[in-house]
Amino acid sequence: MKLEDVKKVAVIGSGAMGNGIAQICAQAGLKAVMVDIKQEFIDKGMATVNASLDKLVSKGKLTAEKKAEILGNLSTSLNNADAVKDAQVVIEAVPEIMDLKKKVFAEISAAAPADALLASNTSTMSISEIASAAKNPERVLGMHFFNPAPVMKGVEVIYAKQSTDANVDLLCEMTKKIGKVPVKVLKDAPGFIVNRLGAPNQALISAILDEGKIKPDSIDTLMKTAAGMPMGPFELADFVGIDVFYHTLKYYSETLSPEFKPGKVLQNLLDSKKLGMKSGQGIYKWEGGKAQIDASQQTQEMSPMDFLAIQINEAVRVLKGKIAASAADIDLGMVHCMRAFAGPFALGAGMDPKQLSDTLEKLHKRYGLNIFKPEPEITDGSFKNMK
Ligand SMILES: NC(=O)c1ccc[n+]([C@@H]2O[C@H](COP(=O)([O-])OP(=O)(O)OC[C@H]3O[C@@H](n4cnc5c(N)ncnc54)[C@H](O)[C@@H]3O)[C@@H](O)[C@H]2O)c1
Repeated sequence: MKLEDVKKVAVIGSGAMGNGIAQICAQAGLKAVMVDIKQEFIDKGMATVNASLDKLVSKGKLTAEKKAEILGNLSTSLNNADAVKDAQVVIEAVPEIMDLKKKVFAEISAAAPADALLASNTSTMSISEIASAAKNPERVLGMHFFNPAPVMKGVEVIYAKQSTDANVDLLCEMTKKIGKVPVKVLKDAPGFIVNRLGAPNQALISAILDEGKIKPDSIDTLMKTAAGMPMGPFELADFVGIDVFYHTLKYYSETLSPEFKPGKVLQNLLDSKKLGMKSGQGIYKWEGGKAQIDASQQTQEMSPMDFLAIQINEAVRVLKGKIAASAADIDLGMVHCMRAFAGPFALGAGMDPKQLSDTLEKLHKRYGLNIFKPEPEITDGSFKNMK
């Protein structure tokens, strides 16, 4: 199959991610069918698409005629087999439950045309395992969008063990066609590229909470003031949800290293249902959609360099582990999937390796976690030549 043969995309699941994915496919001029198990879920998904397009019309970015044309490209269905039977690309966005994903892939691989690409939007599950449930697994790939899908430019296109180069390349082309920037992920590894780069910083947040010596308020205020971050790392954990934050760490502790195990403070917050913004209380109290942060102090014990050094160190591991094809790809991922100002290799290029290495050694000693230990390429500065 060639890119010009791709005319119809079936999106399985019309929830938070599915409706946004269907919208961007329809916006790119493709026929898109959005599927769910109940009409009320479809209606909710369609209402979200409508509201999102209305916003573009009110901003003058879309004409009313164009909106009608986009909606004309979009249809809905309550039947997976029916929806995929004439689709060239299928994108699955059902809940993160392995047995459900396998059931869906068995179903869609039996009903879709034999050469259709079957992609999963999973954030944390093994695509190779999902593929094992499909009729011809070599056409199963990962296609990891970021939330909100219509806004975030980057999409990780992931190889499962069974994937062929031709299918990955075609999915990358298709990603460009829908106005996104593909970032190739060569291995179906936990966190892929972009989320993996944030994993050790999540562990640091948990370690700081357990140590209990530095007030989260004073770190968040520092990160917002000195590093220009829109949200500090603790505020972000509350915003994402303590349950999501906890389960991501737990997943990394089971797949990457036991050192990612969520600490006692996170465990207590989870057990007492203090889930952050959505429950009104997490690390912070939330009122009117805002975390109640004491901004009167900035910690002297940490610097934005701590978080950055950890990210650069992890980027070196991802590159050495051949999860990314190049340093440039990792930077591309961070810029387009996370809206970072620049990627870790671009930022690291101007930094003193000794300062980076000393920062990591300090964190390693203070928190007793080997995941903060500097890679040899950081210590000797050779990471700057990694391509
Ligand atoms: N929410 C995010 O920020 C985010 C970001 C990136 C990736 N993801 C991944 O995207 C996937 C979907 O996440 P979400 O947040 O959109 O979930 P969601 O719960 O909002 O939506 C999932 C939808 O799938 C439907 N569904 C369930 N079983 C189905 C079936 N058999 N056939 C068709 N539809 C079915 C559900 O009714 C629901 O409407 C997950 O794998 C998740 O890990 C989520």
